[in-house]
Amino acid sequence: MMKLNLTAIAEEIKDKNPVDALRYFAETYPGKIVFSTSFGWEDQVITHMIFANNIPIEVFTLETGRLFPETYYVWNRTLEIYQKPILAYHPQTEALQEMVNSKGPSSFYESVENRKECCYIRKLEPLKRAITGKECWVTGIRAEQSANRHDMSDIEWDEQNQLLKFHPIFFWSLEEVKDYIKKHNIVYNTLHDKGFPSIGCAPCTRAVREGEDFRAGRWWWEDQSKKECGLHATT
Ligand code: ADX
Ligand code: SF4
Repeated sequence: MMKLNLTAIAEEIKDKNPVDALRYFAETYPGKIVFSTSFGWEDQVITHMIFANNIPIEVFTLETGRLFPETYYVWNRTLEIYQKPILAYHPQTEALQEMVNSKGPSSFYESVENRKECCYIRKLEPLKRAITGKECWVTGIRAEQSANRHDMSDIEWDEQNQLLKFHPIFFWSLEEVKDYIKKHNIVYNTLHDKGFPSIGCAPCTRAVREGEDFRAGRWWWEDQSKKECGLHATT
């Protein structure tokens, strides 16, 4: 796919609310648009928008095998409530076995290199399969989530994956996310009420203290600068 004219697209969606913008992209890229969910509350808001409005966008999750029990609960309840598919992408068995058999089940704590290897096997490679052949990738990223994300925009060209990325609630505050969840009675991960603003894999996520950064609980043992898993290259 050719690099798109982002200014023209921005113009198209500038007066649209997130649901209408999602509809617009679904119509523009029929069968070629996907939404990735990690079942965090931003993602639950978007899942609700897609499913409750029957917007034809495929929803998928990267099943790393190391998610919190609470996350599986939300996943299952979401399937029950909406009766719509959420596709799971699992890591390749051989690569995973080799890593775990040679380095043990917790190699990610030992070095940044090991951590990136684990994220590659459990998230990045499956992500590649999930977005192959697609033209638009929807995520739950918000500007508030980190300094890097603050500098992004709600639509971006993903050079690495050669597709358009759209973050429908990019400009929402956390309060707006919570209000929407309450208003629409959306099922959400109870870890959010226990100090987890951002929820990834269980061994690599912990609660943050009042006033700490949104992402302080992710890969907390690593340098600030290294704390991205590579899913979102520009973030
Ligand atoms: S990450 O870069 O730290 O891993 P973060 O947890 O902030 O990402 O989530 C940002 C967006 O990335 C989510 O809204 C979701 O679209 C996507 N994402 C993150 N983790 C997963 C996952 N395990 N499966 C599917 N999508 C995910
Ligand atoms: Fe592995 Fe941790 Fe990355 Fe999950 S977040 S894929 S457990 S290193």
